[in-house]
Amino acid sequence: MTNLMHTLFGSQGYIPHGHCYLWQPWLVWLHVASNAAIALAYFSIPALLLYFIAKRRDVPFNWMFVLFGAFIIACGIGHLMDIWTIWHPNYWLSGVVKAFTAIISIYTAIELVPLIPQALALPSPAKLEAANRELERALRELQSTQSRLIQAEKLSNLGQLVSGIAHEINNPVNFIYGNINHVSSYTQELLNLLALYRETVPQPAPAVAEVLAESDLEFIEGDLPKTLSSMQIGADRIRQIVLSLRNFSRVDEAEMKPVNLHDGIDSTLMILQHRLKPKGDRPCIQVVREYGDLPKVECYAGQLNQVFMNILSNAIDALEEVYETHQANQSSTLERTLQDKAPVIKICTRLIEPDNAAKQVEICIADNGPGIPKAVQAQIYEAFYTTKPLGKGTGLGLAISHQIVTEKHRGQLICQSDTGQGTTFLIQIPLRQSFVAPESTRTAARNP
Ligand SMILES: Nc1ncnc2c1ncn2[C@@H]1O[C@H](COP(=O)(O)OP(=O)(O)O)[C@@H](O)[C@H]1O
Ligand SMILES: [Mg+2]
Repeated sequence: MTNLMHTLFGSQGYIPHGHCYLWQPWLVWLHVASNAAIALAYFSIPALLLYFIAKRRDVPFNWMFVLFGAFIIACGIGHLMDIWTIWHPNYWLSGVVKAFTAIISIYTAIELVPLIPQALALPSPAKLEAANRELERALRELQSTQSRLIQAEKLSNLGQLVSGIAHEINNPVNFIYGNINHVSSYTQELLNLLALYRETVPQPAPAVAEVLAESDLEFIEGDLPKTLSSMQIGADRIRQIVLSLRNFSRVDEAEMKPVNLHDGIDSTLMILQHRLKPKGDRPCIQVVREYGDLPKVECYAGQLNQVFMNILSNAIDALEEVYETHQANQSSTLERTLQDKAPVIKICTRLIEPDNAAKQVEICIADNGPGIPKAVQAQIYEAFYTTKPLGKGTGLGLAISHQIVTEKHRGQLICQSDTGQGTTFLIQIPLRQSFVAPESTRTAARNP
């Protein structure tokens, strides 16, 4: 043991390395300075590597960094030994340091071989970023689908409520409406009888004369028929409203049915009637209907009514916005030119026959409001896209409408507009929704 230590740390018989440099000071110091600089760098690199893996424990294969650190430190010690042996010929010791360095370097190299394929398989930052973007997109889609589902559920609940109320009101209103005719004819008979009585008995009994003097019989005779006829008009109006509500909600129809689309548009307009009336500076919104000769269209009527409702409400909002100047005389030039035109919503329907495709119906809803800038048109169907103030817009109207038209009815919803040009929405849906069965089921049906 002492022998081994003696050999390792001993230096008898050897001459210092400096002799090889002929002790020329510049040569000696060149070696000293270079070895010292290399050793300094070799000691600082592992320190930085260790600091890195201590901070980033998630980095894969971090033990490899420790191995790198160890062999770089061994190399650094080797360079220090080179300085030492210039004056002290402990060549055994420097040889052992070199052997130790060789062992760790070779071990590191061997460990590195199986690691390379694994390291190559690691996703690149670009791939990770793409995956991340995909995840974010999926999340956004999920959120918007969820909100559309909630909204659709709300609408369906609302539809049920409206249809329930309409149904309940329908019966009592029909009693009133149906009986007013009888009441009118009975009243007329009574009045006739009264007139006849007055003619035949000009001098009634004193008790009757007293009551006659107190009541304004002539006024009643004139006013009673008028009262009855205004009650009749009122009852008729309630009946129409109830009919529109039932028409509009149509929740009873879970499956497709051929319906008259014009009824749907009319009932929607009836429900929106109160919003068309003049308000503040805004004159009454005129509605021009140009209905074509349409056959019945196979569709989910309640859902399509919802589309008409969303698009018509947006048109009314847009026309209203023209007059909503926040301060008097602060309207922009565009608003002032728009204010000079009477606000109009035009609804046209027609049959179209696209080349090589089945017949479709087209419903065109146009307003002469401020229009939608081309730049934002791509966004209007996105869920939550709204330009309206908080509390007024939800940004879901067109998203839901687009889904109903394109997905539920395999149709198209097209927007034609530009700033100051008004806005036109075209709803195009096939007349029939005949679904083609997939090939496999058809074959199965033919060969049972
Ligand atoms: N007729 C129209 N005229 C002008 N802008 C419109 C019209 N219809 C829709 N828009 C624009 O499209 C946006 C999205 O509409 P929508 O999905 O119904 O949401 P919301 O009405 O709740 O804002 C509106 O905020 C508006 O900027
Ligand atoms: Mg809307």
